[in-house]
Amino acid sequence: MNRVPGRFAAERSGLAFIVALIASIPGAGELAAQTPLSFEDYRETVEPIFLADRGGWGPGRAPCATCHVEQGTPLRLQRLRETAEGEVYWSEADSRRNFEVVSRLVTPGDPDRSRLLRQPLVESAGGSALHVGGKFFQSKEDPEWRAMADWVAAADPVEATFGPRLDADFFRDCVQRVFLDKRPGDVECIHCHASGVRGFAPPVPEGRDFWNEEETRRNYAIARRYVEPGEPMMSRLLTHPLAPAAGGDYFHGGPRRWASTEDPEWQMLAAWVRGETPACVVGEGGR
Ligand code: HEC
Ligand code: HEC
Repeated sequence: MNRVPGRFAAERSGLAFIVALIASIPGAGELAAQTPLSFEDYRETVEPIFLADRGGWGPGRAPCATCHVEQGTPLRLQRLRETAEGEVYWSEADSRRNFEVVSRLVTPGDPDRSRLLRQPLVESAGGSALHVGGKFFQSKEDPEWRAMADWVAAADPVEATFGPRLDADFFRDCVQRVFLDKRPGDVECIHCHASGVRGFAPPVPEGRDFWNEEETRRNYAIARRYVEPGEPMMSRLLTHPLAPAAGGDYFHGGPRRWASTEDPEWQMLAAWVRGETPACVVGEGGR
């Protein structure tokens, strides 16, 4: 018998543990008292904002969808469908996939900390400093901005869900070797990421050929900002040097080290981001 015979009986039968375990898996069941982000409200009030015509092209003027459909940005929306009359739309299944992506860019219950809301808002009103796509909303009173904020605010904060723990030793012994490795025709990460806010690969001091523990800790603290545990495609350390055609970021001041996510080196890094400790494959040998 696989049927769960009612809650009370389940508790008594020792199934309670399994039931609780299943309930604790994100997405397998919402906690009873929690209001999750609403898909219906998203579809009705938020998604149309991505398609809205703003009477122009380019940063700050073009519909969000111009740059956010299928392109390698964290806000990667589904391809648009077209009616016989030439109107674009997303099917319900498309919208559900969009909803998943968009949900990861917001902090339920907290519009001000939500990337979706900060990115297109001017900095003086509390937005982020830079959005390559430009600024669309001059204040939080903007009706479109409010619609997105209301959707986010209506949901209860989610208890901090901890992603998988990243293996710091793997970073030290393997990931850092990627920073030093030169592929033919390419420039190494250390060449450009030696200092500044993105300085996760400073020069190795004279007389040594690798970073020591203390240097490693510093490098890690910086690189860690570009890693979203459990989410390789949301981790800029992996998506910035990845070819845009393969889902990499729209823009990187440096080269595209990986032509595709099939590159064994990329796969290895993705496994690390998912909390695993795979075999270390670095460089051309890894291709
Ligand atoms: C002209 C192209 C363009 C348009 C139009 C555009 N964006 Fe973007 N957006 C980008 C690019 C490129 C990135 C990745 C680089 C960056 O974060 O600025 C991005 C990144 C983002 C991100 C992810 C930020 C993060 O935290 O990593 C969000 C959210 C976003 N845009 C929201 C929007 C919304 C909402 C609109 C419409 C109101 C919009 N964008 C319009 C180009 C655009
Ligand atoms: C030729 C110089 C150059 C090389 C080589 C280079 N980068 Fe970059 N990288 C840049 C510049 C410039 C920026 C800042 C502008 C941008 O976001 O692309 C940057 C930004 C980044 C960012 C931060 C993105 C952000 O949102 O702030 C990451 C992560 C990154 N690079 C990873 C790498 C990795 C990993 C390597 C090696 C595989 C690498 N880069 C090699 C020039 C380089």
